[in-house]
Amino acid sequence: MNTTSHSLLEMTPVLPVVQIADADHAIPVAQALRQGGIAILEVVLRTPASIEAIRRIRAEVPDVVVGAGTITDMGKLDAAVEAGCEFLITPGLTPAMAKACKDLPMPVVPGVSCASDIMLGLEYGFTAFKFFPAEASGGIAALKALAGPFGDITFCPTGGISPDNLAAYLALDCVSCVGGSWLTPKALLKRQAWSEVTSLTQQAIAAARLDQEALNCAG
Ligand code: 3PG
Repeated sequence: MNTTSHSLLEMTPVLPVVQIADADHAIPVAQALRQGGIAILEVVLRTPASIEAIRRIRAEVPDVVVGAGTITDMGKLDAAVEAGCEFLITPGLTPAMAKACKDLPMPVVPGVSCASDIMLGLEYGFTAFKFFPAEASGGIAALKALAGPFGDITFCPTGGISPDNLAAYLALDCVSCVGGSWLTPKALLKRQAWSEVTSLTQQAIAAARLDQEALNCAG
């Protein structure tokens, strides 16, 4: 995939954050999201099945872009790259993580929650960030304030995003897409309720389109 972090975040209005407990759920969940209109997902490395899930999606669902999230240490970073993930997302940023990620041949979206985090990211050449945890870190008001001094960066707010507030986030110039786990609740995955995942995905796309239409009318 020849893509930058910015173009990655522009691929979708909503980036699904997916926790996979059973590797057998990996392919159907990726297909259910794609069926609903979203051909990208972040598999969080919070379960023993997550690395195998990335491997299977990469091998069996080639029209879905699969990335790894919850990259909190070098072991997870190496495992995700080795599994074939196509992008990486971290919840926060340290100098060691920035150094390890800056020359990787895939988009990396580091997590930030304040001006100092952004400045650290900029020092290492990152300009597209996960704003995490979005709602708990000040939400839309914080993003508007951060957009002042940091003009040329883009955010994927994640953490507390839902169909109720996604349009308000997407309306901000500094927001390319939002992330969230609400499309793939653990209970639905456990029940293998793939059509319900597809419905939630379609609803999210519809909510994002409404926002785009409102913007077009305003313009
Ligand atoms: C994440 O795990 O990256 C976020 O915590 C997802 O947040 P959400 O569960 O509020 O969508």
